[in-house]
Amino acid sequence: MINLAKIDKQIIWHPITQDKIADLPLIIKAGVGPYLIDQDDKKYLDLISSWWVNLHGHANPYIANAIYEQALKLEQVIFAGFSHEPAINLCMGLQKILPESLKRFFFSDNGSSTIEVAIKMAFQYWFNQKIYNKRSYISFAGGYHGDTLGAMSVGQSHLHSVFGQLLFKNHHIPFPQTWNGDQDVELKEEISLNALQEIIKKHGEEIIALMVEPLVQGANGMQICRPSFLEQICRLTRDAGILVIFDEVMTGFGRTGKNFAFEHINFVPDIICLSKGLTGGFLPLALTVTTEKIFEAFWGNNMQVAFTHSHSYTANPLGCAAAIASLELLVKSRTIENINTIKEANSTGIQKLLSAEARLEKFRQIGTIAAFDIVLPDNLDLFKITLSLRKKFIEAGYLIRPLGKTIYLLPPYCTSAQQLEQFYEYIYNYFHI
Ligand SMILES: Cc1ncc(COP(=O)(O)O)c(C=O)c1O
Repeated sequence: MINLAKIDKQIIWHPITQDKIADLPLIIKAGVGPYLIDQDDKKYLDLISSWWVNLHGHANPYIANAIYEQALKLEQVIFAGFSHEPAINLCMGLQKILPESLKRFFFSDNGSSTIEVAIKMAFQYWFNQKIYNKRSYISFAGGYHGDTLGAMSVGQSHLHSVFGQLLFKNHHIPFPQTWNGDQDVELKEEISLNALQEIIKKHGEEIIALMVEPLVQGANGMQICRPSFLEQICRLTRDAGILVIFDEVMTGFGRTGKNFAFEHINFVPDIICLSKGLTGGFLPLALTVTTEKIFEAFWGNNMQVAFTHSHSYTANPLGCAAAIASLELLVKSRTIENINTIKEANSTGIQKLLSAEARLEKFRQIGTIAAFDIVLPDNLDLFKITLSLRKKFIEAGYLIRPLGKTIYLLPPYCTSAQQLEQFYEYIYNYFHI
């Protein structure tokens, strides 16, 4: 057999990888349901939905067929001055599960791009109204919104420290992360709220928007905050006349147990950013969804107030066809049952881990996402530990990618209770003292 991994190592530059010390990549030849399959037919339970995108299982035939059918009709058309049925049908389908106020859909093609669009859209919203002093955003310390320059600027990830000089200045407030049995959550929330109030008091005039990963900070280690806190900061921000943007790139489409994270609170943001699960994990596509009020600020008789942002593949018909099929599967009662099954299996699994003297702590869960931290002495090399854990999990047939000390599960919705139970059993045995 040709050694694909060796060829890969010679010619491909992988993301977020130190190629010098990285092992040969694992070549995956197929996927079925929640499993990925390598060249030796070994199966791996994909508990991270292959970077948080897959909803209904790998190579889902319903979505695959929708893409195939669309490809035979129309694969791509310029989206300026042209449109097509899949884009329109997708937006009409999404309207059915979104609040009435979120009714304007702007397409792009990945998570970072939907954030860039939101950043620029919010800035120009004020600019078009001749409010020229708005220049910065408020967001959360440790937040991650993507790897493009604007997304890195509103985020604050250790992955981006080298680019500091290129980023624009923003205001970051602490994220009051919490977990089961956390005694200090109220104090942490108070600190965050005070920080927000202070920034609004001092700099409110210049703030364009608040950018939030609602309820869960993904890349920062699946850190969770309480819905009541999220609602409070959103209200404070809106009362100060500042826009609120929800980055639902990871939380969208059922991950938190509801279609969108904002459904956990009594507040509808001005802009939401969608990608990842939008196509069920088949094709890159993104949407920035906003209100008519924001759209109208771009309404005029010349291009000066128009939103001049585009991508070649904007609203690609194949992506839209995949997204329509994925949405049809998402709203089926079977999928809703599956989401509930995962929720319950995670709760049971966490109970099992809690009942043992395991080297684990800070258990947290929301919807289909569960996470916990490994108890480690401070002086250990976390990078090496993470790499070696990833390897052990792969050997055991699990695709799990710890984020620092955090082990998390974010499985496709077709993952069964039994598959999760086996995984928790494995973790229990692995970390049992
Ligand atoms: C919350 C959030 N926003 C934005 C992004 C960026 O998405 P993409 O990797 O598609 O650019 C990510 C990616 O992990 C994310 O988790």
